[in-house]
Amino acid sequence: MSRITYIKGAAQVATVAGASEAPKRGAAMADAGILENAGIVVEGDRIAFVGPDAEARRYVAERGGADVVIDAAGKTVTPGLVDPHTHLVFAGYREVEWVRRLQGTPYLEILREGGGILETMRRTRAASEEELVEAAKRRLDRFLLHGVTTVEAKSGYGLTVADELKQLRAVRRLHEAHPVDVVATFLGAHAVPPEYRHDPDAYVALVVDEMLPRVADAGLAEFCDVFCEEGVFTVAQARRILEAAKRWGLKPKLHADEMHPCGGAELAAEVRAVSADHLLKASPAGVARMAEAGVVAVLLPGTAFFLREPPADARAIIAAGVPVALATDCNPGSSPTVALPLIMSLACLTMGLTPEEALVASTINAAHAVGRAHEIGSIEVGKKADLVVFDAPNVAHIPYQYGVNLVDTVLKNGAVVVE
Ligand code: NIG
Ligand code: FE
Repeated sequence: MSRITYIKGAAQVATVAGASEAPKRGAAMADAGILENAGIVVEGDRIAFVGPDAEARRYVAERGGADVVIDAAGKTVTPGLVDPHTHLVFAGYREVEWVRRLQGTPYLEILREGGGILETMRRTRAASEEELVEAAKRRLDRFLLHGVTTVEAKSGYGLTVADELKQLRAVRRLHEAHPVDVVATFLGAHAVPPEYRHDPDAYVALVVDEMLPRVADAGLAEFCDVFCEEGVFTVAQARRILEAAKRWGLKPKLHADEMHPCGGAELAAEVRAVSADHLLKASPAGVARMAEAGVVAVLLPGTAFFLREPPADARAIIAAGVPVALATDCNPGSSPTVALPLIMSLACLTMGLTPEEALVASTINAAHAVGRAHEIGSIEVGKKADLVVFDAPNVAHIPYQYGVNLVDTVLKNGAVVVE
């Protein structure tokens, strides 16, 4: 008999139900499937019941009582939050560069000088796999404390065959060793490393001909991403990498139109990317094509905030019928945070999402952006019991009390991992 956990009498349960097949878009994004005075029963690692608390109580009684009871009176329960865009594995922080940026030096200028991503590349190359795992483990602990139970994690600070593989092995070890599930993305094309500065196409060839086959053979990544940006990788280079990735069985993602309108949204639609991320400068035509192609827009309002740039036009993206997800972009340069609930606040405050839209974007739509919506992202019978109890009387409080961590209890695979 599997263990029974009863989450009793929640003021609100945001089920975010009914969108496991396709992400929520348009008006559907405003509905987080909220139940009042509801109960949840978990059997083993799965959700066995969600509905009126009186029925939950009966369900538990019929099975001889619960092994664990969590009193959620006055609180709000949501699916475990899903962060579909992070650069989790890196060595060292870049607060010195941040202070320079505060004084006016642009992000891309620092990268052109050989700093920025390339600074983290040097430190990540110098670090052992063990050191990378240890540093990232501490970040994952903090993700969990903020209610995040699944994160995507990209490579992209190695930029040699050996160092990209090292980063991805670290990702795999983290997934195996930590309660948070970690989904691996190969981002060999994150920057052109100094060795290839005068021949970026030769670096693209290295990514396509050597890195991708090794990553795919070792089964070290599910997705492939490219930083498509003026002065980084062109649309043509990104297309070449993502088409090759598909042939190796990796699903495409794209850092698209972050600082300049580059045609990234259009490319994401063309290659049928699972997601296009950032989109601060995406063209309306590109966004329309994303809607047709079913590409999820992963928006990163924390990054825009931290770079002091105007955020993506989320309202236009939603109105165009593109499903929106939210992510931290956790990285040492443009968004050193793990606080996904704060990102929800920024999504409301700077992009005009409603609290329910922000929750949908951080749960089921985010699960779609990492290809996991059949397992996680909503509170429905049969799904994995990844759940967060917030010390909040309703969903709106989660982004409303901005910068305040309201997480009370976290269940991962049915087990209490934060209390
Ligand atoms: O998503 N834009 C490119 N990559 C990251 C930043 C990485 C870094 O600065 O270290 C991003 O913002
Ligand atoms: Fe990123």
